Amino acid sequence: MRVLLLGQGAREHCIAEALNSELYSFMKTRNPGIMKLSKEYVISDLDLKKLGKFAKRINPDFAFIGPEGPLEKGAVDYLKSLEIECFGPTKSLARIETSKAFMRRLMEKYGIDGAPESKVFSSIEGVDEYMRDINDFVVKPDGLTGGKGVKVFGEHLKSIEEALEYSKELLRSHDFVVIEERLDGEEFSLQCVSDGKHLAATIPVQDHKRAYEDDQGPNTGGMGSYSIENHLLPFLKKKDVEKGEKITKDIMKALYKETGEYYKGVLYGGFILTKEGVKLLEYNARFGDPEVMNILPILKNNFAEICSDVVNQDLKKIEFEKKATVCKYVVPEGYPLSPVPGKLDIPETEAKVYYASVDLREDGLYMTRSRAAAFVGIANTIDDAEKIAQNAVEKVRGNVFYRKDIGTEKLLRKRVEHMKKLRR
Ligand SMILES: Nc1ncnc2c1ncn2[C@@H]1O[C@H](COP(=O)(O)OP(=O)(O)O)[C@@H](O)[C@H]1O
Ligand SMILES: [Mg+2]
Repeated sequence: MRVLLLGQGAREHCIAEALNSELYSFMKTRNPGIMKLSKEYVISDLDLKKLGKFAKRINPDFAFIGPEGPLEKGAVDYLKSLEIECFGPTKSLARIETSKAFMRRLMEKYGIDGAPESKVFSSIEGVDEYMRDINDFVVKPDGLTGGKGVKVFGEHLKSIEEALEYSKELLRSHDFVVIEERLDGEEFSLQCVSDGKHLAATIPVQDHKRAYEDDQGPNTGGMGSYSIENHLLPFLKKKDVEKGEKITKDIMKALYKETGEYYKGVLYGGFILTKEGVKLLEYNARFGDPEVMNILPILKNNFAEICSDVVNQDLKKIEFEKKATVCKYVVPEGYPLSPVPGKLDIPETEAKVYYASVDLREDGLYMTRSRAAAFVGIANTIDDAEKIAQNAVEKVRGNVFYRKDIGTEKLLRKRVEHMKKLRR
């Protein structure tokens, strides 16, 4: 198959590998991994005309849109107008990620289960009252913020006054602010694939947003993630995963009713298991970075075929090997607040390596200002998968850090204890 791939991160490097096709790439930066796998590539900021021209010349079987940015900019709408099929939702459908107000209203309108108590505000009027009313809450901007916009009361926001100030600030640059009940529990990602009529779930994965060990420090794009060989998580039962799948199926159907368009792409639910059951925190309209790296490397099906089935609305069940995976990101010292770019040297390793924010120059590989490279260990048990990933990140030379604790028994036990405590 001929595929046009849009995007330049570790997520897209992993997608490129899984597609295993005649690949044409459109990237903002020179990702050495994607370059190596591509028959031809264009390095450019996203310019729809330029993308369209490239796409027309190649005439791919389909275009795969990796990140959320181009979805919001209408890359799919534009490519479709040129009669290029796409794996990825149109701008209107991508609102399931790009507008948390749209997402919450959709859940309410179609009576979809699993929504926390929440209210959408277009002005500061009534926000104060609502915050006092629900007592424990989070404040969410209505728009893409690279995972850095949500603030939690009692954690990032110390008082109602501070929370009101933050809401006012958000309303200056966003149409809406969403105030929602603060939930306590364990989060999991369930990345589903949708062709608009059928939905196929993948396996649950747990991400780690905080920069430092033991979930301390600022939020990041994600420092790493794991999945277990039994296709569950240590705190998660089969019925919890099925609940997430059911909510997502309802969302897929509601999206069609609401827009009259079929959703073709990823519907990734960010769920939290609470003592009251599974609740939905957010949807993403693309694969997770890092979470895609826990699923595609152990996929049993042919990935390009899955994508082409999505385009043709003939999606079938997706199956995975009974393996555990651990992904650890190596990031520049100071990330995410004041990252220090510098040289990076990656020795041979047993782990899979996916490049992210790096620049390949004549004298070697350089980190830029974001997550540099991801290392994925795959094995029959989570212990062995963790060891493979850990050995790999330890060998990396450069001014970097990573989270040692991801995928370790100690951290897994802590998650299980947390859930037990909540249920008591
Ligand atoms: N209702 C909530 N209760 C508790 N924590 C929340 C809630 N909503 C979001 N969070 C926390 O904030 C993080 C980011 O929120 P999310 O809705 O995923 O937005 P985004 O990924 O766009 O920043 C979540 O991963 C979770 O840790
Ligand atoms: Mg999120």
